[in-house]
Amino acid sequence: MTQRRQRQGRLSISHRWFTCAATLTLAGIGLLFSSCSKSPSALNPQGPEANQITVLWWVLFSIGALVWLIVMGLLLYAVFRRRRTSTDPDRELVEPEKLVLIGGAVIPAIILIALLFVITNTIRHTSSTGDASDLTIEVIGHQWWWEVHYATQAGIEQDFTTANEIHIPIGQPVRLKLSSADVIHSFWVPQLQGKMDLIPGQTNTLVVQADNAGDFRGQCAEYCGIQHAHMALHVIADPPDTFATWLTGQEKPAQAPADAKALNGQQLFLGSACVYCHAVKGTNASGKIGPDLTHLASRGFIGASTLKNTPDQLKTWITNPQDSKPGNLMPPTQFDQSSLDALVAYLETLR
Ligand code: CUA
Repeated sequence: MTQRRQRQGRLSISHRWFTCAATLTLAGIGLLFSSCSKSPSALNPQGPEANQITVLWWVLFSIGALVWLIVMGLLLYAVFRRRRTSTDPDRELVEPEKLVLIGGAVIPAIILIALLFVITNTIRHTSSTGDASDLTIEVIGHQWWWEVHYATQAGIEQDFTTANEIHIPIGQPVRLKLSSADVIHSFWVPQLQGKMDLIPGQTNTLVVQADNAGDFRGQCAEYCGIQHAHMALHVIADPPDTFATWLTGQEKPAQAPADAKALNGQQLFLGSACVYCHAVKGTNASGKIGPDLTHLASRGFIGASTLKNTPDQLKTWITNPQDSKPGNLMPPTQFDQSSLDALVAYLETLR
């Protein structure tokens, strides 16, 4: 009677343990596949470098899962098997030693050495610094936004600065020269490449390539202060002709506003403290502390992807940027309603 109860107790503990492990496994698989859909996930690669990383991820995941299943299988076998009574005293001593040696040292060593080669191979394929002839874009990390500079280079006459949104042409490698104006940041666009740090006083090179057109969200991946989480970016991959049109547009200085309201807004802008931090090419505004606003209205977001770039959100942002992004360098500015409307009407002309 007592023996049966003991066995039942043991079985119910094993059963609970098994249910728990099965639930965790199913939750893990669910989480994995939910991140495979159209999300900015490393499991949804859009270029050759990201493809390499995804393949490596699946290799590591599959081997890890296989090892886990084998270990769990052995564990369940040990839990459920009948206790053996052996008459041979040597048998119980030799078997576990062999098991520990083979299962705990030889097999893991073989697996880890094989994986070392696979990982090294992926690093070799993703750490190219590109050719001097590749399109090169300078990206400078700031607390908490990305300055993006397109300088004149082989074949392309250009010299303009934008922020937080990096346009690239599809199907060709693009060199990003990464540095920082303050602390260490990390550039990470999971669908295109692995992470690369932006370090003050040093320039790191990262080659990215997008095979398909799209808007690939990225994120600063190194804690850099209170608004680290609000330091996002977008890499927008365009077909070559769309990219050429974008380049031509960005290269031009801002057009003078045509209507009276926007003109009034421009005067307000140029007469305010805005110009000490922001530049608008073609005007006297030439501040370098904050993002260049020459073509602000052509960008999808403000505050490094904190808010959508709409007239209402711009008003919210200008009135109190500390509300949606506390700690950033931009101070609140008080304008009366008609001045604010005029100012935003002007900013909307900066296409
Ligand atoms: Cu920049 Cu975190």
